[in-house]
Amino acid sequence: MWSAFFGSEPVFETAGEISFSINGSPFTADEKIASDTTLNSFIRDFANLKGTKFMCYEGGCGACVVSATIVHPVTKMRQTLAVNSCLTPIFACHGWDITTVEGVGDRRKGYHAVQTQLAKFNGTQCGYCSPGMVMSMYSLLERGKAPSKAEVEDSFGSNLCRCTGYRPILDAFKSLASDSSPQNKTNICVDIEDMDKMCPNKNEFCSKLCGSVAIQSGSAVWRKVATLDELVAVLAKVGDAPYKLVAGNTAEGIYRSEGIQTYIDVKSVPQLRNIEVKPDVITLGGNVTLTEAMDFFNEVNSAGFDYLVHLGGHFDLIAHVPVRNVGTLAGNLSIKHAHPDFPSDVFMTLDAVGATLNIMDISGIIQNVTMVDFLLLGMNKKIILSIQFTRRDNPHRLRLFKITPRAQNAHAYVNAGFLFEFEDEVSWKVAGVPRIVFGGISPSFTHARAAESLLVGKVLLDNKTLAQAITALGQEILPDDVLTNPTPDYRKKLAQSLFYKFVLHLDPTKVSKFLRSGTENLQRPISSGIQEFDTDATLYPLNEAIPKIEALAQCSGEAQYVNDIPSFPDELHGAFVQTTVATGTISSIDATAALAIDGVVTFFKHTDMPYSNTFTPAIFGYLEPEEVFCSGTILYAGQAVGMIVAKSRAVALEAAKKVKVEYAVGSSNPVLTVEDVLNQAGNRIYPVQKENEKDNSVLVSATKIIKGDFSLPRQYHMTMETQTCLVVPREDDNYDVFCSTQFMDLAQAVVAKCLNVEASKINMSVRRLGGGYGGKITRPPQLAAACAVASWTLNKPVRMVLPLSGNMEIAGKRFAVRDEYEVGVDEKGKILYLKAKVFQDAGCNLNDSQRTMNTTTAHFTHSVYDSSTFEIVGQQIKTDTASNTWCRGPGSTEAVAFLEEIMERIAGEMNLDPLEVRLANMYAVDNPVPAMIADLKEKADYDARKAKVEEFNSLNRWKKRGVSLVPVQYPFDFWGVRPVVVSVYQIDGSVAISHGGVEMGQGLNTKVAQVAAHFLGLPLSMISIKPSNNLIAANASVTGASLGSESLSYATMQCCKEILSRLSVIKEKMPDAEWKALVREAHAQEISLTASYTFTKRDNVGIYFIWGAAMAEMEVDILTGEKQILRVDLLEDAGQSMSPMVDVGQMEGAFVMGLGYWLYEQLVYDPYSGRLLTNSTWNYKIPGAKDIPADFRVYFRKNSKNPNGVLNSKATGEPPLNMSIAAYFAITHALNSARKDAGAPASYFQLKPPATAEHIFFTSLTDEKDFKLFEEDEE
Ligand SMILES: Cc1cc2nc3c(=O)[nH]c(=O)nc-3n(C[C@H](O)[C@H](O)[C@H](O)COP(=O)(O)OP(=O)(O)OC[C@H]3O[C@@H](n4cnc5c(N)ncnc54)[C@H](O)[C@@H]3O)c2cc1C
Ligand code: FES
Ligand code: FES
Repeated sequence: MWSAFFGSEPVFETAGEISFSINGSPFTADEKIASDTTLNSFIRDFANLKGTKFMCYEGGCGACVVSATIVHPVTKMRQTLAVNSCLTPIFACHGWDITTVEGVGDRRKGYHAVQTQLAKFNGTQCGYCSPGMVMSMYSLLERGKAPSKAEVEDSFGSNLCRCTGYRPILDAFKSLASDSSPQNKTNICVDIEDMDKMCPNKNEFCSKLCGSVAIQSGSAVWRKVATLDELVAVLAKVGDAPYKLVAGNTAEGIYRSEGIQTYIDVKSVPQLRNIEVKPDVITLGGNVTLTEAMDFFNEVNSAGFDYLVHLGGHFDLIAHVPVRNVGTLAGNLSIKHAHPDFPSDVFMTLDAVGATLNIMDISGIIQNVTMVDFLLLGMNKKIILSIQFTRRDNPHRLRLFKITPRAQNAHAYVNAGFLFEFEDEVSWKVAGVPRIVFGGISPSFTHARAAESLLVGKVLLDNKTLAQAITALGQEILPDDVLTNPTPDYRKKLAQSLFYKFVLHLDPTKVSKFLRSGTENLQRPISSGIQEFDTDATLYPLNEAIPKIEALAQCSGEAQYVNDIPSFPDELHGAFVQTTVATGTISSIDATAALAIDGVVTFFKHTDMPYSNTFTPAIFGYLEPEEVFCSGTILYAGQAVGMIVAKSRAVALEAAKKVKVEYAVGSSNPVLTVEDVLNQAGNRIYPVQKENEKDNSVLVSATKIIKGDFSLPRQYHMTMETQTCLVVPREDDNYDVFCSTQFMDLAQAVVAKCLNVEASKINMSVRRLGGGYGGKITRPPQLAAACAVASWTLNKPVRMVLPLSGNMEIAGKRFAVRDEYEVGVDEKGKILYLKAKVFQDAGCNLNDSQRTMNTTTAHFTHSVYDSSTFEIVGQQIKTDTASNTWCRGPGSTEAVAFLEEIMERIAGEMNLDPLEVRLANMYAVDNPVPAMIADLKEKADYDARKAKVEEFNSLNRWKKRGVSLVPVQYPFDFWGVRPVVVSVYQIDGSVAISHGGVEMGQGLNTKVAQVAAHFLGLPLSMISIKPSNNLIAANASVTGASLGSESLSYATMQCCKEILSRLSVIKEKMPDAEWKALVREAHAQEISLTASYTFTKRDNVGIYFIWGAAMAEMEVDILTGEKQILRVDLLEDAGQSMSPMVDVGQMEGAFVMGLGYWLYEQLVYDPYSGRLLTNSTWNYKIPGAKDIPADFRVYFRKNSKNPNGVLNSKATGEPPLNMSIAAYFAITHALNSARKDAGAPASYFQLKPPATAEHIFFTSLTDEKDFKLFEEDEE
């Protein structure tokens, strides 16, 4: 094999396969495995362990994290590390012992403490993130020393969760920390000790570190080298063919390499992994991992090297634990070398401290170069051997900065490093040439050379010098303009601000007190939370705070999602080909190149749809047929043109990229926003929805008339499980459809129509979803139709799992909406009339928009405010974007936001307190919200904290705080058809339930089980919830809008009552008989033990309101625009909750999803092609674990029973999202003070949502003229 590839004798002893273990079982991989096979796909597809998930395949979500025990090539110690299996090539795993979630614990061998704690703390909802969470925590514990709470909290930058809001996950894992409360610790320490026993070889030399490997796989060869000589020899022979050195392979998460013919695994080369400390120089091997470097920097105690500790701090902000565990210094620097626009933190920090690189070529010559010279060096067949740091004994100051869209796992908008030597720390006179380094400016910019020269010999702690330096920076920093980055203007100003922060920090005692707040970054404490609710033990298990019934299965990877259904032997995989332009027509499609790829079976397009090409059937009330595959006229970029079917998903995805689609595109740019439509004449505005139409001739005498508008953006659902479907052909023209859908009935109808078979032949089954949030209601049938037609045509099972980018581009988002209004108010800010027009961006058709438009206008008029004088007109607008769809709290979120913005504007323009304005406008009769606000004010200590915030703001120029309290009234109404079947087994009295809902994390199954257990008087363990299917749940309505849990609980209750009533005859005769005996006897008497009930509107479970109020306190860094959420207090009326822990989860999760909407998530489209540019975890940032409120308190309204609800309960999952706007307003209140300090006249202003750092920065009116150390007269 070697000879065949290199054409000569092998130079070294090699193995032709690699060996490793997974959960203790040995595995090998050889030339039969494709060279680009990842560990993730090996675990799932070869080892058939489906517990490990995937979503992004770019290291951005954490769903794929597993644990690897690896022998270090220098220390020979075994280290256990979390790694992203999606970025790890299987051939890189030689000698590894891999543990997946199945290996940690399961129902047979017992669960591990990490799993039980996560379940116990209700840290799972949909559960799709849970295996990754478990493996991150397990690896942290396995690294050998128990982590502190702070370390735990810091270690989840790798793992996204869209459902829970992270608080319970962090609490669960912090309970395992060395400094957790004694009660938790006692329990857990036992488990940790057990784990040690399970790992007897820990810290011992492992002989598995073997020599070299060479595997020819297809046209590529994988070489694992064990020595530097060997590396050089291999490099010398690669010729001109593309090669890659593989260390952590994490660069693939950012820039995918293509066409590689030689992979050279270098991570076992000791010279590249060594750390050497000498008195004058410290040398780190090029492939020292970021974790090793960080640990070393944090602990270095050699004289003259204390500056390295700053690097340790900064490295903590690079990527996240699993990437740092295997990603290396040289790998990072090579990315920067190949892509100079990459804002590398490694490059920036090494450059800032004046480190140098030793670069070796294949003739063995070693060159020592500066970081800047490295960028200019040709690196073909060269090796970054090591990095050198020199001793610094002179007085110096080093500060490193990184400003990011969210707290962790995000690239820098701008990063910066400043290293100055001073003659002394009294005069602050600059000695020598300082180092001023910035990243994120432009591909060619590294050092601010002009500012560096200007400052030589200057006294830095001086207003004039500072001003000169800031001006010089302004002149030489010319950021490039990249659509997905913040604007050049912001990045330039940010760079200036960071330098100002550095100077302020030199000696805060010499800085005016008012300005000192600019010195430090925002400080986040370890987060905490309180959940306050009452329960009634007489109702248990109803109303009992229990974890979700499937929580342990989720935490152990035993819970099955659609893509975990084992592969069928002849199964095929689909991948969509999607448009890259938003308008025009398709002129040709050529799949020849794709079809030539080994493993590709066929290509489908619209002409291959035999009977129907739509997934929005008219019988479901859709206004416009949406095409499965575009038949010619393009409606948006990302639309499906066709589908490649191949033998593996990887091949299908690769081949889909090779299908050539040509377009005839018109000359005008696509219309992408509501504003685009309003700004141009056109016919894109659709039907009018009116609420409370008023006689406009009645004029009201108002103290003030205010006109305004507010535009809200789209939001991507970011389900951790992307759209997924599997269709299996069965006998008698039946098709089993496993679809990740919230609406089985719709998918069934679409598949039946597309195949022209009776609906009864379509067997739908849904066990659970990995998140839905409304995004899996009307969109999944498109996949179902495509897979079904392929399955029908080829007579094989066909599976399709959308890749993240494809999912983001094809699927509609939360509706973008704009309102324009006029409001007349009296002197107290009470609204005398309100006329509002709401324009909703439907996307390319009106299908899902119509109902949401109605919801939006209805939430306007049924809000907590007196709406008797409101007149609302709702209009839908078509844009050249994907058909927008429901997203958690659809319509209500927007209506609440508009009303609350109006309240804020009234307060702002009339100089009134916003809360007073809100209270003045509330409807008067039977409105409990004012009392709830009073209650919340007391719980949250509102008045005192508000006063403290004002005091804080008066004392601090560069940090500001704000509070806001937002109420909500959420009108709730039941509709739809929701069947349940309850069966009792005579064998042992156990109970099985199947219902017409879809469990997607909302706790539906748990509530249904609690209700059944309560009514039947049984322990929960006797109740089993089965997957939903369309035999039992025929015609079931959608599970969404929080309707499922309550209505299905109601139907379950009716079934239980029916069974009890049938048993009552027996009970009369056998009054003392236990349940099992009763059931047996009933069966003996041929009494049916199965009952069904279908919930409908006729059940008269009434309309009710959900009330709540939330207070948020925010802190903002005025010099950077960064923010943090100091505290949130959330009070909601949950009625008498059926399942308090589930409802807490709903509240926290919804609130944090709302925080994402208001503070973080930004969708950017290319204005020319209309393509979504933010289509990955790199540039679409949902909140991470350290973006949640530092202090998050949730309270249920006390003594609340809802007579109109099911079993006195209320739905809980959407109002908190409505209230999350409190965080956004709290920022605006903080900015009020900053603007005042900046000299702006008091007036209302708007902060563009989402409140990104850039929007905050510009709204704060921060200007370089204010960058001073002290007022001149203070000098
Ligand atoms: C999710 C995620 C988040 C990230 N966040 C950040 C961040 O916030 N800040 C930041 O700066 N970076 C970030 N990165 C980048 C990360 O630091 C790099 O991916 C990592 O350091 C690359 O190292 P590696 O060993 O995995 O490189 P590999 O992927 O193995 O290799 C990358 C390149 O380096 C070359 N190479 C490797 N070793 C050598 C050597 N010794 N000599 C010459 N060439 C070599 C290879 O040929 C290859 O071309 C992030 C990456 C990911 C995946
Ligand atoms: S799939 Fe690996 S991090 Fe997302
Ligand atoms: S529970 Fe974390 S993503 Fe659903």
